Amino acid sequence: MLLGIKAWGYIYFLQVEEGNIPPVPEVTPPPIPEDLKTAIKSGKVRAPTHIISTISDDRGEEPCYAGVPMSTIIERGYGVGDVISLLWFKRSLPRYCTQFIEICIMLCADHGPCVSGAHNSIVTARAGKDLVSSLVSGLLTIGPRFGGAIDDAARYFKDAYDRGLTPYEFVEGMKKKGIRVPGIGHRIKSRDNRDKRVQLLQKYAHTHFPSVKYMEYAVQVETYTLSKANNLVMNVDGAIGSLFLDLLSGSGMFSKQEIDEIVEIGYLNGLFVLARSIGLIGHTFDQKRLK
Ligand code: ACO
Repeated sequence: MLLGIKAWGYIYFLQVEEGNIPPVPEVTPPPIPEDLKTAIKSGKVRAPTHIISTISDDRGEEPCYAGVPMSTIIERGYGVGDVISLLWFKRSLPRYCTQFIEICIMLCADHGPCVSGAHNSIVTARAGKDLVSSLVSGLLTIGPRFGGAIDDAARYFKDAYDRGLTPYEFVEGMKKKGIRVPGIGHRIKSRDNRDKRVQLLQKYAHTHFPSVKYMEYAVQVETYTLSKANNLVMNVDGAIGSLFLDLLSGSGMFSKQEIDEIVEIGYLNGLFVLARSIGLIGHTFDQKRLK
């Protein structure tokens, strides 16, 4: 190739010399841009920002969660609820709110081996797979039939309450659209066999929350759905969804716009995902232990 180019160059030179072809003017090649690494090193440029993160920072002496240093978190005796409020909501919430978050986590951590998530994790662990595979195979079942209706419950209850719909209008409107009311219904629980978790959450909120208007609305909805079928009780997703609306609107810590964004993005299924991970990990260890 090199020889070829050289040979062509020589032929071209002879042809120009003999006046057979006009000489082509020399072209100054464009300058080669400076190498990015060298330019960054010399301080002339900085790499563009690819990702912006606003919840934590580890550039200083110690990592910070939403601006709160790790040592403060430990010195002030913060709990998991406080850490969630800092990393998810980017603010320190009052103790009754962080305790409510912790109660949600504790109550949803496990529910026996038969539910879809635990079942999947157990089967995966027994098939000899590792912890992460067993955990995610369980997590992947979280959805409308298992623990994944909290966000939708919050969305629909909020919309119905804010629009002033009666429970009758709301439930019948959903029926017309062919959508099951999220947060209502249970395979086993019924009017005479209530879900203890729902009762515990409601009791806590009645004692500590300044307002439980969304939960009271969800209870009215439940009263109406129970008039249709015995198992159409408020389930734990409905309780967390409606009570979190009360937490957001009653705590005075969130603007209306922020509440709308939280509900629209869908933060609340995260509570169930986080909580149930505890149980799914436990089931995985249990199966490994049982060999
Ligand atoms: N709203 C309106 N009607 C309902 C609802 C509801 N939320 N749930 C059940 N129904 C109706 C069904 O349409 C069905 O009526 P049909 O026989 O006339 O068609 C009847 O009740 C029985 O339905 P099933 O599917 O047999 O009810 P199942 O007990 O299996 O379902 C479930 C339980 C999955 C929770 C269901 O009630 C549901 O989809 N709820 C809405 C989503 C939800 O809240 N999921 C939370 C899951 S987490 C947890 O269970 C704690």
